[in-house]
Amino acid sequence: MVYFDHAATSFPKPRAVVDEMTKCMRFYCGNAGRGSHALAMAAAEKIYQCRTECADFFGSSHPENVIFTLNTTMALNTVIKGLLRPGDHVLISDMEHNAVLRPIVRLAQEGLIEYDIFSTMIHDGGRSDVRICARLARLLKRNTRMVICNHASNICSVVQPIKALGTFCRKRGILFVVDAAQSAGHLPIDMEEMQIDALCAPGHKGLLGPQGCGFFILREGILPSPLIEGGSGLHSLDTQMPQDPPERYEAGTLATPAIAGLLEGIREVGRLGIERLHEQECVKFRALRQRLLRIPSVTVYAPDYEGSVLLFNKKGMPPDEMGRALDRLGFCVRAGYHCSALGHKTLGTLSDGDGVRVSFGPYNTLQQLDALADAVEGIHP
Ligand code: ALA
Repeated sequence: MVYFDHAATSFPKPRAVVDEMTKCMRFYCGNAGRGSHALAMAAAEKIYQCRTECADFFGSSHPENVIFTLNTTMALNTVIKGLLRPGDHVLISDMEHNAVLRPIVRLAQEGLIEYDIFSTMIHDGGRSDVRICARLARLLKRNTRMVICNHASNICSVVQPIKALGTFCRKRGILFVVDAAQSAGHLPIDMEEMQIDALCAPGHKGLLGPQGCGFFILREGILPSPLIEGGSGLHSLDTQMPQDPPERYEAGTLATPAIAGLLEGIREVGRLGIERLHEQECVKFRALRQRLLRIPSVTVYAPDYEGSVLLFNKKGMPPDEMGRALDRLGFCVRAGYHCSALGHKTLGTLSDGDGVRVSFGPYNTLQQLDALADAVEGIHP
């Protein structure tokens, strides 16, 4: 199989990730913070090491503000539900994934908050950071408390101007939450420079770690209320969660083997070099786009935005059918809708049954992309 579904989860995982997870489960998988014996201490040390390197990687100087969760969705739910208060107004971008849209819609339906959607101008030739911020400014209300934006889309390679949006929000005292599900490990992110208040990300996509571990990183002083409560290993006689991060948010046993794997994934991305990785993604994108656009019946969506995600359709061929045909030929892609109702609408693919998504990772080669394009050319309705 040739794997082109890295936007869903990266595969295969680097050898160092697999080896460290095995080592963890064989030699040091105690329960961190539960007991002071050697194996609990070894697990705690590994988790702390991961917090430290994760904070460094994303430009935070506070490892204790790196909170491990099950996935990005849980991170976003914690931040959104823990920070918003009744009567708040929220602005979300028109490219948000359901992990943002659904919690926001539910809070709005319950009458707790109101929200508006700002345009990221993806089809506008005059798109610029300043113009996107101007659109945002027009939607501000007296009670606007939070702006939420994804950094990179999961259905095409558009990237949002996070630094400009962060600066805009900080100047006005508005919380800025970034969904980095598709950018962590693909694009450089510096929370301080980009003025991000809460960054939510997965461990298992661009950071090359295992499934079962995502995280959020809070700016110092930002303290959402916890989403879940329970044992944290600290202050066991208290009836409330500890006040400080990370324990405030990490009720229950952490996924130590996954966190140990994530640490190695982050190190691998560091070795490969994030700028270099992104350049290579753009080279691969251009090569595939060029090949697909030579096929007369193929449409590539948002073809000018280059990165690791390319969405296309072939005339007369429903995306699901194309996905299954490619699978039979040994290619893993994701087809149909991609949990991004807003994004599909903005991109204009809703009525086409969305599209076939090819998303590549560091180990995919140009030869593999060529073979994929040959296969797409050869598949007929
Ligand atoms: N959100 C992930 C995707 O785009 C799972 O496939």
